[in-house]
Amino acid sequence: MNHRITFQQAGGPEVLTWSEAPLPEPGPGEVRIRHSAIGVNYIDIYQRAGAYPVPLPATLGFEAAGVVEALGVNVAEFQVGQRVAYMDGPTGAYAESRNHPASRLMPLPDSLSDEEAAAILFKGLTTHMLVRRVWRPVPGEWALVHAAAGGVGLILTRWLAAEGARVIGVVSTEEKAGAVKAEGAEAVVVVPRGGSYGQLAAQVKALTGKGARVAYDSVGLDTFEASLDSLAPFGLLASFGRASGALPLVDVAELGRRGGLALQRPSVFPHVADPADLQAAARDLFEAHARGIVRAHIHAQLPLREAAQAHRLLESRGTQGALLLIP
Ligand SMILES: NC(=O)c1ccc[n+]([C@@H]2O[C@H](COP(=O)([O-])OP(=O)(O)OC[C@H]3O[C@@H](n4cnc5c(N)ncnc54)[C@H](OP(=O)(O)O)[C@@H]3O)[C@@H](O)[C@H]2O)c1
Repeated sequence: MNHRITFQQAGGPEVLTWSEAPLPEPGPGEVRIRHSAIGVNYIDIYQRAGAYPVPLPATLGFEAAGVVEALGVNVAEFQVGQRVAYMDGPTGAYAESRNHPASRLMPLPDSLSDEEAAAILFKGLTTHMLVRRVWRPVPGEWALVHAAAGGVGLILTRWLAAEGARVIGVVSTEEKAGAVKAEGAEAVVVVPRGGSYGQLAAQVKALTGKGARVAYDSVGLDTFEASLDSLAPFGLLASFGRASGALPLVDVAELGRRGGLALQRPSVFPHVADPADLQAAARDLFEAHARGIVRAHIHAQLPLREAAQAHRLLESRGTQGALLLIP
């Protein structure tokens, strides 16, 4: 029997239940993977809560690392016993084992443990999109990073700083500020939970002069206005998440009035949709990890059975870096 975490209806963490079902043989083009580490991502929370509806019942999870256990027909590029990982759909990573399309798997290098892979693949390839496709770091230019001590935030801060950008992080506690400075941020603004982002733009302008060249905003509703106001003329708001709530509707002419601003809503899924792009981005990420530009920050590893507790932790803003579930 194969254990997994399923949910029958959208709701709070309590809808996540431990269940068991037989796992069929892998179909054509699929590989059966026995998971050793599963990555928890904020999108799992949007899906569980119904903000991003999924057909139900469902098993959550886009990301895991493990070992190939069986091959479907037409799979020539992997072998039983090989270490692999993946970071996109179909969902179903919150399970002891699963079948997954071979075309979406990445072979893992010896330099990366399974836990490290599950901590950096989804978040690191998102960062790869943000620093390669959305805005390539320019030495000396300012970048504003929200949720800078989060799973994506720590990786993004370190990568930007490693390539010479001057990073201003935004976090909710002094402890998180220390973690973000350790990754290379030049300045960190602390806005406590329940506090206002109303002074953020003035603080960013005081540090930068004209404002930030780019604002990476994954917080969404609460920070959207402050991010726009923090930009230099012709700056870019990369709005890539909505942890605080759905984004407002935007009057495009308003972007002009605020200084010729650009607005983008990037997503990692189209970034790696082409299998060749996925493998190339993964090679870049693994190389960045080997060179120390990307580090795995594992806040905690919880038993898979405690997925609901992992969701409570992430939603409570109590984590720094990644959360893993261990089967
Ligand atoms: N577009 C894409 O393709 C893509 C891919 C990956 C991730 N993302 C987005 O990137 C963000 C980060 O993902 P992650 O998995 O690494 O999560 P995370 O950053 O580890 O956790 C979310 C963080 O957001 C901050 N936050 C601010 N206001 C919040 C609120 N009202 N409720 C909850 N959190 C709040 C918290 O940090 P402070 O307490 O320090 O403020 C919290 O720790 C998410 O929004 C996610 O959807 C987007």
